[in-house]
Amino acid sequence: MKNININVPVSVYAYDELDDARRELVDRAREYTHHSYAPYSHFCVGAAIRLDNGVTVCGANQENAAYPSGICAERSACFYAGAQYPGAKFQAIAIAARGVDGNEIPAPVAPCGACRQALLEYETLAGTDVEVILVGASDIYVLPSVKSLLPLAFTEIV
Ligand code: THU
Repeated sequence: MKNININVPVSVYAYDELDDARRELVDRAREYTHHSYAPYSHFCVGAAIRLDNGVTVCGANQENAAYPSGICAERSACFYAGAQYPGAKFQAIAIAARGVDGNEIPAPVAPCGACRQALLEYETLAGTDVEVILVGASDIYVLPSVKSLLPLAFTEIV
């Protein structure tokens, strides 16, 4: 028996420390929290994905009276990107959220497991790492890739 440790590299930034490209993506994700349709959870999430064709695609969580029929912000953005710009490679994604009080959540928002798995697929398609930016009210976490956010990921057996 042996033990292994899997580390997740996270760089913690204040908003003012971000470069222009990252700041723009954070701004778009924050903006899209206002596009959320979340009458049930009142948890409003926005996501912004920068593509290699120069386009930034945004999404927001969309809920439904039949709860599981809703979709998270990350998957709304990444499926839209896949549908509108097939073949475009993802470069980076930023995710932001506002809580039931309407204010941005204090800790950086952590994507659910299903969204991590979906994003991993697009990172694999891109063939390069997709930076992940998790936005909180003060701290902003920058991870180098989706796979760093999803250790021991399932991938199709070939
Ligand atoms: N949600 C997202 O949009 N992204 C996440 O990473 C976590 C959760 C949404 C789903 C649901 O509409 C609401 O937040 C509460 O779970």
